[in-house]
Amino acid sequence: MLFIANAEGWPGIATTVEMLRSGTTDSLTAMVAGISKVEAETKVRSVGHGGWPNMLGVMECDAAVMDGTTRAVGSVGAVPDTIPVARLAHEVMKQLPHVMLTGAGARRFATETGFSVDDVLLEDSKRVWWERLEQEMTPEQKAAFPNTPLAPLLKTITDPERVRDTTVYLSADPSRGIHAATSTSGWAWKYPGRLGDSPIPGAGFYADSRYGAAACTHTGEMTMRCATSRTIVLAMKLGYSLSDAVKLAVDELNELTDGFLGGVVIHAVDAKGNHEVVNFRCQGEIRYWLWDGAMPEAELRAAKTI
Ligand code: GLY
Repeated sequence: MLFIANAEGWPGIATTVEMLRSGTTDSLTAMVAGISKVEAETKVRSVGHGGWPNMLGVMECDAAVMDGTTRAVGSVGAVPDTIPVARLAHEVMKQLPHVMLTGAGARRFATETGFSVDDVLLEDSKRVWWERLEQEMTPEQKAAFPNTPLAPLLKTITDPERVRDTTVYLSADPSRGIHAATSTSGWAWKYPGRLGDSPIPGAGFYADSRYGAAACTHTGEMTMRCATSRTIVLAMKLGYSLSDAVKLAVDELNELTDGFLGGVVIHAVDAKGNHEVVNFRCQGEIRYWLWDGAMPEAELRAAKTI
């Protein structure tokens, strides 16, 4: 058994490890239960209740789950008024013939499925959101807000230190398969309706129990262009080792020279019990959680910088 998660996943690690250890549920249920705790934890500023809103001050969260044995995916994007979006994505996977729901449709499904309507935006986030936006607007834009073009504001409001993180959980077990789950509030002050990579199969996550799984944090605009997670799993299918597969994906990210460029952290596992967590161009030390089935509890480790 192998379980890895990014550092932001801390509130749910013990829950997921305990459920994986006891084996009373399938691995995806265990990971979604852990991620629900991350989404509810207001100290985590990139996921769920603690996350940052879009440019209109509205929380729009993204999440996904993938069962690597069946390659079933459930995904939700730009969901309003909902904190446990990974659980909602899991319900999409279990109940619908669709893979992905977004916006009002995702919220409608949440209500049909018995999810509460949540007040996701924290008062403090609302205050910081408006203060930051105010700095960017002319008096005329402020007077007209929100009926003013938002795209010009997007050029200057980007705050790379505060945006685009995510939580990602991956588990690999010879008998229970290899699976992935993600959740994020996405790019802070994003244009309304922007989806990151966390709900996009192949970009922010991919799993195939025969070979392995990958999931990415940080700049979704990079991994969506390169289909980073799918690249890694496909490379392993074609015979690459895990570290060569990750290197191939990093080389592809490195080939991007125009458009919005930023850092990416790749988390990956294979079916042989190996794992890699690699920091491509993110500032500061990146850490992740590792639990190998024999450890008494998960340990925090440092990612490789590439
Ligand atoms: N990786 C998270 C995002 O781009 O929203």
